[in-house]
Amino acid sequence: MSSKLLIIERVVDLKKILADKKNRSVGFVPTMGALHNGHRTLIERARAENDFVVVSIFVNPTQFLEGEDFSKYPRTFEKDHEICRLANVDIIFLPTVNEIYKSDDISVISPIKRGYILEGFSRPNHFNGVLTVVLKLFNIVQPTKAYFGKKDAQQLILINQMVQDLYLNIEIVPIDIVRDRDGVALSSRNVYLSQDDRIIARAIPNSLISASKLIMTGERNIIKIETHIKNELKNLQIEYVSILKRDLTQIDQIEMGNSIILIACKVGGVRLIDNLWI
Ligand code: PAF
Repeated sequence: MSSKLLIIERVVDLKKILADKKNRSVGFVPTMGALHNGHRTLIERARAENDFVVVSIFVNPTQFLEGEDFSKYPRTFEKDHEICRLANVDIIFLPTVNEIYKSDDISVISPIKRGYILEGFSRPNHFNGVLTVVLKLFNIVQPTKAYFGKKDAQQLILINQMVQDLYLNIEIVPIDIVRDRDGVALSSRNVYLSQDDRIIARAIPNSLISASKLIMTGERNIIKIETHIKNELKNLQIEYVSILKRDLTQIDQIEMGNSIILIACKVGGVRLIDNLWI
């Protein structure tokens, strides 16, 4: 059970509190706020598995491209605070941009090839920003375990790779996608969808269900399955439909237990991603 929920803005203060928690496990959930049930699932898992739980809320400017929605990204601190309080979080880490990024900052972590396909193709350097901030946050919090949703599959895979490559002593815990009743994967950006677009967006999870049925009939050919999905998504603006190995390398045939279907589409100007791990 947690004590009173603390809101900490400064790195020195957080480090001081965490130094007193030596020998206790720390579960960490990094977020950009606008918390929804998907985040709640991560937080609940962190709470169940650790002595101490830290949630960071930081809309990270370096992972937004020029012209993206950084300034209008939903900021809902009061609601976020309530979700954290009800979930018995111990600390919300709420730094300012200046607290995390000093001027002339030299610490940039760049992913290699796999950071420039899929999401990284449409959003070049997005993952530099993600990995840089996640590494900074890991160094500040020094968690035992950190929790990430499978919805951001490429992010999860690259963070796992960073942890291995840099020999970080942190366990990354992947958490299944949480969906609304209509099947649409929860995302902080869903608030941008109009009612009509929301109905159109259902085609995305439905196409994944339809693909998994096709796979259950024995189909393994990537091109056939991708074509099937694209057909289901014909009323949406498809950015990519891609079936890859779980390390994001290419395959011709589905490898059961080691493949992933990844989709990005625009619906009414809102970019949505979804995936299925098969
Ligand atoms: O998934 C997110 O919300 C962000 O990319 C993360 C991991 C908090 C880094 O800013």
